[in-house]
Amino acid sequence: MTTAKQAPRANSVGQDRIRKDGPLKVTGTAPYAYEQPVKNPAYLFALTSTIAKGKIKSIDVAAALAVPGVLEVMTHENAPNLFAKTDNELYILQNNEVHYFGEYIGAVVAETPEIARHAAGLVRVEYGAEPHDTHFRPDHPERYDPRRINTGIPSNSSQGDVEQGLAEADAVVDEIYTTPYEHHNPMEMHSVIAQWDKERLDRVLGLLGDRPHLLIHDASQGVAFERLMLAPVLGLLPQQIEINSPYVGGAFGSKGIPHAQVMLAVMAAKLLPGRPVKYMLTRQQMFRSVGHRLTTHQRFRLGAQSDGTLTAIAHDVQQSSSRLKQFAEQTVNATRHLYAAPHRETSTRMVPLDIGPATFMRAPGEFPGMFAQETAMDELAVKLGLDPIELRLRNKPSTDPESGKPHSSHHLDECFSEGARLFGWDQRRSAPRSRQEGEWLYGMGVASASYPKQMTLATKASVKFEGGKYHVAIAAADLGTGTWTTLTQIAADALQVGEEDIALQIGHTDLPVAYLAGGSTGTYNWGSAVMVAAVNFRSKYGEHPKEGDEAQGGTHYPDEAKQYVMDAYGAHFAEVKVSTVTGEVRVTRMLGVYDPGRIINPRTANSQFIGGMTMGISAALHEESYLDSRFGHVVNSDFAGYHIAANADAPDVQACWVEHPDPMFGPTGAKGIGEIGIVGVPAAIGNAIYNATGKRLRQLPFTPDKLL
Ligand code: MOS
Repeated sequence: MTTAKQAPRANSVGQDRIRKDGPLKVTGTAPYAYEQPVKNPAYLFALTSTIAKGKIKSIDVAAALAVPGVLEVMTHENAPNLFAKTDNELYILQNNEVHYFGEYIGAVVAETPEIARHAAGLVRVEYGAEPHDTHFRPDHPERYDPRRINTGIPSNSSQGDVEQGLAEADAVVDEIYTTPYEHHNPMEMHSVIAQWDKERLDRVLGLLGDRPHLLIHDASQGVAFERLMLAPVLGLLPQQIEINSPYVGGAFGSKGIPHAQVMLAVMAAKLLPGRPVKYMLTRQQMFRSVGHRLTTHQRFRLGAQSDGTLTAIAHDVQQSSSRLKQFAEQTVNATRHLYAAPHRETSTRMVPLDIGPATFMRAPGEFPGMFAQETAMDELAVKLGLDPIELRLRNKPSTDPESGKPHSSHHLDECFSEGARLFGWDQRRSAPRSRQEGEWLYGMGVASASYPKQMTLATKASVKFEGGKYHVAIAAADLGTGTWTTLTQIAADALQVGEEDIALQIGHTDLPVAYLAGGSTGTYNWGSAVMVAAVNFRSKYGEHPKEGDEAQGGTHYPDEAKQYVMDAYGAHFAEVKVSTVTGEVRVTRMLGVYDPGRIINPRTANSQFIGGMTMGISAALHEESYLDSRFGHVVNSDFAGYHIAANADAPDVQACWVEHPDPMFGPTGAKGIGEIGIVGVPAAIGNAIYNATGKRLRQLPFTPDKLL
C-alpha cells in the first residue's frame, strides 16, 4: 500500500499545467456523449414543426414506417405519457399543439442515422395554422413585467429621483441600444443516448427491485441538476435516472439545463425497450429548439456634472420571450452596481412571442446590459471631454451603490492602470479620425467588465483512498474549460500530495451532488467542496490512510460573506481599423486585464479569458440570428449564414490579471472567470470604432452596412 507523501506541499495551485484530458481529446479517444459505447443502438432523427403556431390536423407516418430499417415513428399520437408539467419546454408530444417553428413534433428511429433522416422526410404533416406573432418590437401591446429575472433578482429598482438627477446634470446621454438574437454553436452539437432498463438493484433502497432505470449519456453542464429537472416530468425518482457526461465539447449555457432533445430520445427509447436511442442534432437544428440568447432593446440614460461625477443612471430594458416558457436575462444587473450615482432606476419588460424558449448564453444579462452601459459611458466621456478611463474611475463606488454593503474585493482601477500601460493607451488620440493609414482608420476604445458571484446549490465532494490513490469524486462538469485539471490541482494541494496521487471522477450522477457549471461558479464552488472534503479526510486519517478510508465535505462559504457584495472585474482594451472603402471592421489588438481572485492554473485561465474575448469579438462583428416574422424561423441557420469569429478575426487577443485572492468566494480564493471575458467586449470595440471613425454604433453586430 502506498502512503501519502510526508512533507506538506502546496505547489500545484497556481502552476501552469496542460490539460489532463488533453491527450484523450487530441487522439480522439475521449468519449463524448454520442460516442459512448452502447450495445445495439437505434438512431433518432427529429421531426420539427414548420409553422409557428397552430395544431397538427393529421400526421401520416405510413411511408416512413415502410422504409426498411425504420423501427418506430413517434408522434403525439403514440408518444409515452408524461407525468408532471413542471417545465413547459420538456413537456413535449402530449397533444397536437404547435408553439413555435422548429418545435419537436415527433421522431423517426431506425437502424442507422441515414435511414432515420431519410424516413423523416417522408412523414406528411397537415397543420391547422393559426395567426402567430414572432415580431419583436418594443411597443408590443402585451409586454409584461417578469417580476423575477434570471439569478432571482427583482426586475425593477429605483433609488432617488432620476428625472431630478438628469435635470441637475451638465451633460446627459439618452440613447437606445439593441442586441440581436444569437444562437449557441459549440463544436459539439447537443447529443444524447437514452436507454431504459429494469433496475436490478434498487438505487434508493439497495434492495432487489424491478423499477425502471433510465441511463442517459448527455452533454451536460451539470448532471445532478439535470436529473432533478427530468425526474418530475417523467414521474421518476431522481435516483432512478443515471446521467453520464464526462466530456463536453463546448457549452456556454446551452447545455446548462436539459432541453427537449433529451426528452425526445428518452421517450423514443421507452418505445424500444432495451435499445439505446442515440440522437445528435444537426447544425441547422441548433437554431431551433435548444435555446438562444434573447434580443434586447435598451434605453440607457446617464447624467453627469462637468467633472464627470454621475448624477443619474437609468436603464430600461425590453427583451423577447417565448410564450411557452419565460427566460428573462438580468440585463439591468450590472447597472445597479458598477458605478455610483445618487439617482438610479432600472426596469425590465418582456415581449411575449410565438418563439422557442431562450436560455443562458455566456454572461446572460451582463453581456447585453454592459454593451449599453459601457457604450453610454463612452458617449458621456466624449460629451464631457474626459478620458473614458478617468470617467469610469471617478465613479467607482466606495460601497455597493444599491445595498451600501462593502465589496469583498474590488480592483477595477488596477485593471485599468495596468491595461493602459500594457496597451499603450497614452498613444490614443481622443479626437476621432486622428489616425489613418491608406484606406484604414484606426482607433482605440475601452470598457469595464464586472460579473457577480452567483448563488449555488448544494455541492459535495468525497475523498477515498484506494489502490494507492486518492479518489476525489464530485458531479462536476468539464465543458472544455479545464475542470479535470484544476480540480486535480486543488485536491493535490488540499491533501498535500502530488497530482499523480489524485484520481478525479466527475460528470456522473453517482458522484456526490454538485451544482452545475453555470454563472462562472464552477471552480470556486466545486473547488471549495473538494478542499473541505480533503481537510476532513486528513483530519480523520492523517497522512497514512488505510485502503478504503473515505471522507466527505460540502462547499462552505464564510459566514461573513453575506455582509459583502462580490464581483469579478475586468478592463477591456480594443484597437480596431475600419475600412473607409468597405466599412469592414478589423480588431487589430485586444487586451483584457482581470481581477479574478486566485488563479488556479494560468494556462486554462488564460484560455477562458481569451475564449470569452473571442466570443465577444464574434458578437461584436458577426453574430446575429435573423428571424423571419412571416414564418417565425431563423433564416441563417447554418455556418454559411450565421457567422462566428475565425482566427483572422482575432489575431492578437491577450489576457492578464491582477491576482488578489478573495476568501469570501470560498477557500479557493478564486472568483469566477468563465463569463467576465465576454462582458464589455463589444462596447470596447464599438468605442474604438467611434474613436476611429467618429461614427457611434448602438446596434450589435457592427456589420459593414452600419459604417457606410
Ligand atoms: Mo453560463 S451562460 O452561466 O452556462
